[in-house]
Amino acid sequence: EQLIRKAEIFPIEFIVRNIATGSLTKRLGIPEGTVLEKPLLEYCYKKDELNDPLISREHIFSFGWASENEIKSIDKMTLRINDILLGMFRAIGIKLVDFKIEYGKIWNKDTEKKEIVLADEISPDTCRLWDVNSDKKLDKDRFRKGLGNLIEAYQEVARRLDILHEQSNIRPLKYTKPQAVKIKK
Ligand code: TMP
Repeated sequence: EQLIRKAEIFPIEFIVRNIATGSLTKRLGIPEGTVLEKPLLEYCYKKDELNDPLISREHIFSFGWASENEIKSIDKMTLRINDILLGMFRAIGIKLVDFKIEYGKIWNKDTEKKEIVLADEISPDTCRLWDVNSDKKLDKDRFRKGLGNLIEAYQEVARRLDILHEQSNIRPLKYTKPQAVKIKK
């Protein structure tokens, strides 16, 4: 069962980086694997047609995508989430390189006010996770870079977190091109 709540999503992706890789190295030429002195927070405008461009806080305020107070509390939550995830992954031999997270606003009936909630998944699809010893990628970069063994890597993360179901028998799907199906009335 899942309890679903409708949230008004901020049109912003919040990215936290602990180690330089991906678009940060491409954009600014920071050497791959540079450990950042402190977590780096970036904002991207959620607009697929524009490839979710990097924006500054001033863009957010100028265009009313969130208020200064909202960004202040979201930044605080994001850095706290980073702290928790860093420790959780470190304990199972994984470096949390970076991740993306989104937030929304929901109506709180008790306080009769809108409140900010985390409204996103946290998974190897939205984080970069490297093995502490080998730097092996255990995240979606296996797919993005065509490295293969994506499912095995995700299962490895789940196994180390002790959340892999014993019976789980997930394999990459091999399927033929889907064909149109006629539905009888
Ligand atoms: P980047 O280096 O490509 O900017 O990605 C930074 C982090 O954000 C990385 O953990 C992957 C994640 N991410 C998403 O989850 N969705 C996206 O659309 C993008 C661009 C990045």
